[in-house]
Amino acid sequence: MNVKHTTREPGKYKGDMLAYFVYQEDRKMPVCEDIYVQDGIKPAFRAGDFSGREGETLLLYPVGQQKPPAKRILVVGLGKKENSSGKNGADEPDVWREKYRKAGGTVSRTALKTRAEKIMVVVPAPIVLEPEATVECLTEGLLLGAYQFKKYKKSRKEDDLPQGEIREVLLFVAKAAKPLVAGLKRGRIAATAGCSARDMANEPGNVWTPVRFADFGRKLAKKYGFSCRVLSKTDMQRLKMGGILGVNSGSAQPPKMVILQYKTADRNPTLMLVGKGLTFDSGGISLKPPKGMEEMKFDMCGGAAVMGAMQAIGEEKPKGLNVVAVVPATENLPGPSALKPGDIITIYGGKTVEVINTDAEGRLILADALAYGIKQFKPKAVVDLATLTGAVVIGLGHHRTGLLSNDDDLAAKVAAAGDRCGEPLWRLPLGAEYSKQIDSQVADIKNVGDRAAGTITAAAFLQEFVGETPWAHLDIAGTAYNFTDKPYAPKNGPSGIGVRTLLELVRGWRK
Ligand code: BES
Ligand code: MN
Ligand code: ZN
Repeated sequence: MNVKHTTREPGKYKGDMLAYFVYQEDRKMPVCEDIYVQDGIKPAFRAGDFSGREGETLLLYPVGQQKPPAKRILVVGLGKKENSSGKNGADEPDVWREKYRKAGGTVSRTALKTRAEKIMVVVPAPIVLEPEATVECLTEGLLLGAYQFKKYKKSRKEDDLPQGEIREVLLFVAKAAKPLVAGLKRGRIAATAGCSARDMANEPGNVWTPVRFADFGRKLAKKYGFSCRVLSKTDMQRLKMGGILGVNSGSAQPPKMVILQYKTADRNPTLMLVGKGLTFDSGGISLKPPKGMEEMKFDMCGGAAVMGAMQAIGEEKPKGLNVVAVVPATENLPGPSALKPGDIITIYGGKTVEVINTDAEGRLILADALAYGIKQFKPKAVVDLATLTGAVVIGLGHHRTGLLSNDDDLAAKVAAAGDRCGEPLWRLPLGAEYSKQIDSQVADIKNVGDRAAGTITAAAFLQEFVGETPWAHLDIAGTAYNFTDKPYAPKNGPSGIGVRTLLELVRGWRK
């Protein structure tokens, strides 16, 4: 699907759906610039069916002599114009960015439901934001909201008719000013990359194996001129990466560690992104219960987010910084040579780990990636993303990503980036008390503490491998899939979370 801008008059649009946005007024009828649409709103408002509340929709089917040629007209409410700031960090512009994203998603959802393929969207006069930000966020919402994964759904039973598919979206703007077109492009880049991450995650574990991460990395490198190195099992053995090798030892699929480099200039700072690419997590010998285990194909969402962010970076080519991406990828299965509780392994760089629970595998593969990446690339800052703990779902639910960091400035930057793009985070503490929970009797550390503060002790484990480098850890176990229900994020399945936070972080790096 494509989103383009146009200055062609909406009143003459012949497509399947024409979408307008209206603000809610104080007990008065919402106002639409198009007289025909206004006439349609009137009876609905009088009947009490439509007042322009946020997310409210009104679908009109043009009739009469003066009717516009579009097959359907959709009116979407944007809610009231007044101040809406002060909610847990997100400021007023952030709140409005999210409103337009959701509004775009609502248009796409309605189009899918009604099987409208060609739509025109009339960009509203923005409140608070610049027009280009409105276009950016609407575009994001439209594209993310139009996302579907139907690849393996071939049967077409009568009662199981798949939704339609949106083929073309035209954004109507009165004048195609440069910043506006740039806003559209930014939105398109962010959303397309988010959809790539969703695609990777939606693939089943028997398809999206570690080698697929390597293939994807090489494809990006070729397309955007990144350098790409894929560490094989023998490379890992030579480098003594006992974490990823240990986790991989029960699996028939070889492990991969994909390293991509976006380089501007040596003098520029390097940001390192690390993503957990666990393509299926059975728990290993500490086997998980069967119920819901199929969802553990999503245990690679951190890796998918990092790959998605690199795709966006390749499209956008930001100036002033270098970016290195590291995705350690493997399965965690209970094969005959699998890691066992009580085993002691050595992470890259020499720290030893007593494995208490083979299901705490993410931190083992990330430890190798963090230690190796920091040694190799000496980044100014590191951000890792991982579906790391069930505990974060208990603590924050499906609405916020857990954020843990050894650096207040970096943590604030990441949290602000998340607020700006509708992927909110919440910071949890680190500290010596928590680190003490992973002291081992027989090795340097052990891979689990006790049940208490599971998200924090997992991060405390990772902290052992970052030294003094400013580092932020994003625990996305609650948000990578079955995220908050929003018009532009699927209720079930992967959200693509992290892609836009990372992109936003990169975009604002120098500010
Ligand atoms: N991939 C899981 C974490 C997870 C749980 C992600 C639920 C998404 C939803 C991780 O590898 C894991 O199994 N963590 C264990 C750690 C425990 C053994 C200390 C957990 O959270 O139960
Ligand atoms: Mn696990
Ligand atoms: Zn896992």
